[in-house]
Amino acid sequence: MWDFFETIRHRHSIRQYQTDMPVEEEKLHAILETACSAPSAGDLQAYRITVVRDAGLRQALSQAASQQTFIADAPVCLVFSAEGDRSAGKYGERGRELYAVQDATIAAAYAQLAVVAAGMGSTWVGFFDEAEVSRIAQLDSGLRPIALLCIGYPAELPDATPRRRLDEIVTRL
Ligand SMILES: Cc1cc2nc3c(=O)[nH]c(=O)nc-3n(C[C@H](O)[C@H](O)[C@H](O)COP(=O)(O)O)c2cc1C
Repeated sequence: MWDFFETIRHRHSIRQYQTDMPVEEEKLHAILETACSAPSAGDLQAYRITVVRDAGLRQALSQAASQQTFIADAPVCLVFSAEGDRSAGKYGERGRELYAVQDATIAAAYAQLAVVAAGMGSTWVGFFDEAEVSRIAQLDSGLRPIALLCIGYPAELPDATPRRRLDEIVTRL
């Protein structure tokens, strides 16, 4: 088991998957538990997670995401959706428009790290047709898809991509 910082260092977007190696249910369960351990506004967890294993649905999601074919290749796709109503009940419009989206985003980020700790890889997909993804993932009305997370065993070892320098990003006061 890697320590936390090693896990962070080993996370790279994976866009080629071992198509004959399914994601074990126990590992998927641990990833979902980790996602749901993320902080959320008011501890409301204003998000849902849809697990898509079905090959036809993954193919449809790939088409809804501008033909990003690796979505169909990865054995699992998680659809993270914001549940605006749940947050709006306590926080009004700020909850609906911001906190629910943040809740879903943080949960997906936790999941992405858990995937690495479980020996697999993922790619976060944000470029997709929301209406199409809602239809394919059979989301209840009121849910807004925020991120797709493709998960599987990597068939590539990408190099780390460069990052902006800290002093371009960080302001110290
Ligand atoms: C909000 C968001 C949206 C993204 N959308 C896509 C996408 O639609 N397709 C894709 O291939 N990668 C997507 N990515 C992955 C980024 O391209 C990737 O994280 C970035 O290039 C850094 O590379 P790394 O993940 O290997 O560190 C997205 C990442 C984020 C956080």
